[in-house]
Amino acid sequence: MPSDRLDRVRLGGVVPSHVAVIMDGNGRWAGERGLPRHLGHREGMKSVREVVEGSVEAGLDNLTLFAFSTENWKRPLQEVSALMGLLQLYARKEAADLRRQGVEVHVLGDLDRVDESTRSAVEQLAERTRGGDRLRLNLMISYGGREELLRAARALADRVRSGELQSSEIDDEALEDSLFTRGLPDPDLLIRTSGEHRLSNFMLWQLAYTELHMSPVYWPEFDREHLFEAILDYQRRDRRFGRVSAGVQAS
Ligand code: FPP
Repeated sequence: MPSDRLDRVRLGGVVPSHVAVIMDGNGRWAGERGLPRHLGHREGMKSVREVVEGSVEAGLDNLTLFAFSTENWKRPLQEVSALMGLLQLYARKEAADLRRQGVEVHVLGDLDRVDESTRSAVEQLAERTRGGDRLRLNLMISYGGREELLRAARALADRVRSGELQSSEIDDEALEDSLFTRGLPDPDLLIRTSGEHRLSNFMLWQLAYTELHMSPVYWPEFDREHLFEAILDYQRRDRRFGRVSAGVQAS
């Protein structure tokens, strides 16, 4: 169905190159319907499909989804297993469709903590979609912003100790090259669903100048129209990166 919002996005100016999403509210969506939490996550998978398709339609280059955080390991084993099962299901069911849409999947995070069958399913998904040139989809799995920065600090310290790098050479670029997101531009827009206003340890370095869009909608109800609404909101922002607006006279 043609979308009026999508037309407005296309007419509205610059489309963000990179959108990151904290998909929140699956548990509350399920709870309010008297359903177990895992059914909220399952419904959330449909929103993943919606938002990926919407991102391709809107012409984004990168979409990054926070699928499982380092803190999520502390959830009950049953819920962790359900989430891993969903990632496997997604990887197996969606690969062909993602390929057809030109989506290249990357999986970022501490995959050593992920069980073998989930790791192999998501790695195969990345393999099967390699070369997709319309959208790069980054699935953040077992990911935490602080852990990512600690790993980077350790990697840089090792390089200094081995004499490969001087500590004075540690700059933005050297640090960014040590992050899971190496090679990715910083997100232009962060969307968090379910009305929460927190970063929850997500992309702490990369979000420094990102525009934030907090949606009241629970993730299982978030569809491509909500994505287009967030992009329209972004297009109304004046991004200054700590400087003054273009057109403001120096005094
Ligand atoms: C947060 O909701 C969501 C998650 C911890 C998991 C997100 C996973 C999916 C959407 C499904 C599969 C993902 C992919 C990429 C196929 P919550 O459980 O914290 O909700 P609550 O705050 O309402 O309890």
